[in-house]
Amino acid sequence: MAEDVVTSVKDPRVVQARALQTRTQRIAAGRCVLEGRSLIEQVRAAEARLEVVLRAQGADTAEDDELAERLHQGEVAVHRVRDGVLRQVAGASRAVSWLAVAPLPAAVDPHLPWGEFALVCDGVADPGNLGTIVRSARALGVDDVVLTDLDTDLSSRRVLDASRGSVLDTRVRRFSSPRHMVAGLREAGFQIVATSPQGSHVQGLAPLDGRPVALVVGGETAGVSREVMDAADLLVTIPMAGQVESLNVGVAAGISMYELRTRMVLTVLTERIRGSLGRDISLTGRLIRDAFDHALREAAGLSSAQLTAVMVVAAEKRTPAAELRRDLGVGSDELDALIAPLNERGWLAPDGDGYTCTPAGEQALAALWPIHQQIEQSLLEDLSPDERISLRQLLSRVQHNATALLQQR
Ligand SMILES: C[S@@+](CC[C@H](N)C(=O)[O-])C[C@H]1O[C@@H](n2cnc3c(N)ncnc32)[C@H](O)[C@@H]1O
Repeated sequence: MAEDVVTSVKDPRVVQARALQTRTQRIAAGRCVLEGRSLIEQVRAAEARLEVVLRAQGADTAEDDELAERLHQGEVAVHRVRDGVLRQVAGASRAVSWLAVAPLPAAVDPHLPWGEFALVCDGVADPGNLGTIVRSARALGVDDVVLTDLDTDLSSRRVLDASRGSVLDTRVRRFSSPRHMVAGLREAGFQIVATSPQGSHVQGLAPLDGRPVALVVGGETAGVSREVMDAADLLVTIPMAGQVESLNVGVAAGISMYELRTRMVLTVLTERIRGSLGRDISLTGRLIRDAFDHALREAAGLSSAQLTAVMVVAAEKRTPAAELRRDLGVGSDELDALIAPLNERGWLAPDGDGYTCTPAGEQALAALWPIHQQIEQSLLEDLSPDERISLRQLLSRVQHNATALLQQR
């Protein structure tokens, strides 16, 4: 069957595409036009919807056929169009081989929760820069792109081209002015970080505080607006070498998003590590050991591990080296180094594969015991008898779990 070819610019599908040339028309229709095979391919791959797809008769390379086949598989109809018609539709001076109509994303519900990372374009006007920024934002993990006016057009061919169609699946929120944007982002709990060639913080060292970050980039000429600069929590700068006044906003936005995203991840990790119970337990252990070590070193030139070794051996009369290693949490070499001074003092004596405590050792222990008691008392000073019992029970359970974990390995 001969293929049905659209030959007239009056064909309704052509008319629909043609009627989307101005922003007002696009907004009214809630649709935009995608021009060129590769852009249509990108949008199809991102699973955005394509409504009308027009393919010029002359577009007959293997790549054209492949795209047509993929669209066909996705049940998107492709209409062949006489050469020259698409050029008229697009108002282009060169040949246009593919054209498609796609719906614009619906306005974001203001009640939809914000993500952790927002990128604010405050007066960025150039469509190429806007598209580049949106494309980078998608790639660098930005959750929300924010505009500080109601007029910036993200549906033009240049924005769609530069963003490789990613504006169609980006969450874009608009405010009517920079002031409203600041109020909205404050209310949503953002730390507002404005960028400027004259910023007071070097961006890589800027003190992020763990709140969601709203990174603001400014217009090509005026930069970030005065209201936003005044209200921002931080003004950051990307250091520049040479006699360069500023970076292109698309380039600056890419650098800033990448660097701040990395910093945010590190900040969250640091917070998590700081807030982890495991870290608290290990910090507590280290502090307690340091407190004992300090007092014992002053009194007897010993460490807390050495005193514990004497205590364990004295209590058990004879202790195998393996058991002592386990009790002290040390390896063979460490145990040897730890026991050597106790041997020299004649407090512990080797006995086969273990140690016994000498009378001199028992005497020394008796003399040091009050110091040990005093430190322990100070450490537990604020805890009631019940709390001490609970603490011991909880610690013993954690020890049990840790031992089980080690045995699994
Ligand atoms: C061309 S610049 C604007 C220059 C304008 N005269 C100014 O002083 O802000 C456009 C935007 O790119 C970003 N930018 C450019 N260079 C930067 C730098 N060195 N550090 C941080 N941001 C920069 C800022 O967001 C700036 O508002």
